[in-house]
Amino acid sequence: MILVTGGAGFIGANFVLDWLACNGEPVVNLDKLTYAGNLQTLGSLEQDPRHRFVRGDIGDRELVSRLLTEHRPRAVINFAAESHVDRSIHGPGDFIQTNVVGTFNLLEAVRDYWSTLAEGEKQDFRFLHVSTDEVYGTLTAEDAPFCETNRYEPNSPYSASKAASDHLVRAWHHTYGLPVLTTNCSNNYGPYHFPEKLIPLVILNALAGKPLPIYGDGQQIRDWLYVKDHCSAIRRVLEAGKTGETYNVGGWNEKANLDVVRTICAILDELQPRADGKPYAEQITYVADRPGHDRRYAIDARKLEKELGWKPAETFDSGIRKTVAWYLANRDWTDAVTSGTYRQWMDKHYGAGA
Ligand code: NAD
Ligand code: DAU
Repeated sequence: MILVTGGAGFIGANFVLDWLACNGEPVVNLDKLTYAGNLQTLGSLEQDPRHRFVRGDIGDRELVSRLLTEHRPRAVINFAAESHVDRSIHGPGDFIQTNVVGTFNLLEAVRDYWSTLAEGEKQDFRFLHVSTDEVYGTLTAEDAPFCETNRYEPNSPYSASKAASDHLVRAWHHTYGLPVLTTNCSNNYGPYHFPEKLIPLVILNALAGKPLPIYGDGQQIRDWLYVKDHCSAIRRVLEAGKTGETYNVGGWNEKANLDVVRTICAILDELQPRADGKPYAEQITYVADRPGHDRRYAIDARKLEKELGWKPAETFDSGIRKTVAWYLANRDWTDAVTSGTYRQWMDKHYGAGA
């Protein structure tokens, strides 16, 4: 079996759902259920004996050690993190606590467990750390996309905390020999994305008749990858990646934010036109820029493509269409998230105040 952390969040939950659908190997899912964790996303697994959910913190070394000893996973995949750049600007403390101190404690618990394994199991064990392209900083329009050899130049409290965690993971390999793998992925989008992030925010605000906020001039560029392609990349790296290596993950889909928002508006115009017949793009509103806003991210994914034969299944056009259609077809999930009632689901399972 495998231990997944942060598996009630956007990417982690997509990963767990896909893993059980295409692999079947049992999963222990450790998640703190912060505001970003949503057990409703995993509702289809409620009766599935292959999925065991545990509410807890990656920084709780005792709990993690107990889970490792009890379940004896062959791999740990670490998705757990504070992930939103804007939140990191308003309050960096939680980012340092989970992304840096939490990762440190997780690594220590895993190292203890790993050191007790028999030689063969030790060699086969993997700690896969899920990271971001934001650790490389920002690009100009002329720069080549980020390679694995680019310098780390994080600019936000979020990316600095992720960079620190990447360094810890690297050091635990070089110093202690822990068999680690690190993936640095570009912006994900797709089902179950929390609507604080650009794409789900724009879809849901558009449908609610609210403004579609564009930071600054909207010409910042992100490199978008459909979340299920990120999940397939992680599965591939886990299966065939070389320990101690890092792999950049991306789908060669650079887009300016304003173009992304206009594309979403055009798809909505087609699939669910406004009652007044006007285009959704009329709701676009320019707002103050994000402080320290990185101008451009772009991933060079050739190492992963060439060495491990991974390729994304979706283009941006196919993925964004699927995503908008998913949000239109899953109003129960989106209503619960926007109204906050998804947290009642947690209260039901974990008691009030959860
Ligand atoms: P998310 O915010 O949607 O989910 C994070 C999950 O981690 C939540 O379920 C939350 O409850 C859990 N969590 C937070 N702190 C925890 C702790 N201390 N212990 C246990 N669980 C905790 O994030 P996401 O977008 O799914 O991102 C997952 C990972 O992928 C993160 O490490 C992020 O840095 C990385 N990443 C994200 C993107 C992206 O575009 N979203 C791109 C590249 C990499
Ligand atoms: O690059 C990978 C990263 O992508 C991940 O590591 C992060 O966890 C993830 O949150 C994401 O970070 P971004 O800051 O790029 O994503 P976000 O959706 O917050 O913003 C995307 C772009 O859209 C960014 O340039 C800021 C802009 N934006 C965002 C919001 C929420 C707006 O213009 N308006 C908005 O309201």
